[in-house]
Amino acid sequence: MFHVTVSAPTNIAVIKYWGKADVPLNTPLNDSLSLTLDQTDLKAVTTVAASDKFATNRLWINGNEVQPNSRFDTVLDQMKSLAQDVQAMKVSFGNKDQGSKSQTQLVSASDWKRMKVHVSSYNTFPTAAGLASSAAGYAALVTGLANLYNAKEEFDGHFTAIARQGSGSACRSLYGGFVAWRKGTSGDAKQLDTTSIAEPVASEAHWPLCAIILVVSSQPKHTSSTHGMQTSVATSTLISHRASEVVPQRMKEMEKAILERDFDSFATLTMQDSNQFHAICLDTYPPICYLNDTSRSIIQLVTEYNRNVGETRCAYTFDAGPNAVLYFQQQHLLEVSALVARAFGLSLFLPSREARSSLSILQSDIESCRNAALEKVTFLGGVERIYITKVGPGPQVVTDACNVDAATGLNVFRAIDS
Ligand code: DP6
Repeated sequence: MFHVTVSAPTNIAVIKYWGKADVPLNTPLNDSLSLTLDQTDLKAVTTVAASDKFATNRLWINGNEVQPNSRFDTVLDQMKSLAQDVQAMKVSFGNKDQGSKSQTQLVSASDWKRMKVHVSSYNTFPTAAGLASSAAGYAALVTGLANLYNAKEEFDGHFTAIARQGSGSACRSLYGGFVAWRKGTSGDAKQLDTTSIAEPVASEAHWPLCAIILVVSSQPKHTSSTHGMQTSVATSTLISHRASEVVPQRMKEMEKAILERDFDSFATLTMQDSNQFHAICLDTYPPICYLNDTSRSIIQLVTEYNRNVGETRCAYTFDAGPNAVLYFQQQHLLEVSALVARAFGLSLFLPSREARSSLSILQSDIESCRNAALEKVTFLGGVERIYITKVGPGPQVVTDACNVDAATGLNVFRAIDS
């Protein structure tokens, strides 16, 4: 058995992808742009293993076996077509007492094509709750297969074009920092639209923005993105106006704001684009309502905060669910944390493991953080948990973890609550 384990980040868009130009190719109606989030707390960790001994392709998500779907098969087939010969580390199956032995062996491209795979992936955050779990999952799958197969891209962004076919937003998780997904020219006769790819706009070091995620509900969303956007394309009259008239200009302004580190423009565009995406959801028939009363109270809170401090210090954005992501600059971390703590409760904060030791310092700082704007905040409630995070790097190979058993090739990951 040959295996590799990788971790991949989520990303949260500030110019949203909503609507497909071509369903089989999974190309979008409009360009989009997102921030890749740090992987300390939020990531997918995926082991990809290949062996001649595997009878079928098998997939485990969060410890439960699921049937690989056609998107998974497409990604696997297209990554196999890019496989190369490589000296790979082979783990020989043993039994529990003997353990397993490893040695390197030359594996040819045709060997990789023949071998079935076992994939075990888990998320360190709620799955399918509008926190880009499919983006992290497919980015991890593509990165894992690329490493295992020593795969080489035939054109720039080739891996992103493959990830896009797993889940559109996944293509943006293959890079760190600020990432654009160009909608592409579509309609080419090829199986793969080679122009619908993700491209880095700026690295995480260029502008180390912070993010707070307010988990309003960790339950899976009632309308999947895939289904929701297809209904929007079929019934919303606003969506084509957005794609042809609004987003092209907004993308230019957003990229300029990022390159110039102009937070006011960045934040205003982010909130306007989130609002427009949810307006299109409401314009869909039957309507899709991802936001709930708590989401709306967060919009109100951020709007009041910005008004009270006299500048746009914080931006909200919502994906296909009620959970909010707030973006702000590092110098306002304590103030925005204090705002959120006053409105929703301090005990809900889940700082990164590294930051846990400094949590008590953070808590006392948050408690002592006072200004006129914060004094007016009343307790709102309705949030389940809060992550503090920041813009982060792209996928990484993990050397200290493996989700499959070297002796059997079967999943070993168990979710804590299952
Ligand atoms: C609201 O990428 O989940 O998060 O391509 O059908 O898998 P599929 O959709 P998906 O849609 C994400 C939509 C969004 C906005 C965004 O991330 O840009």
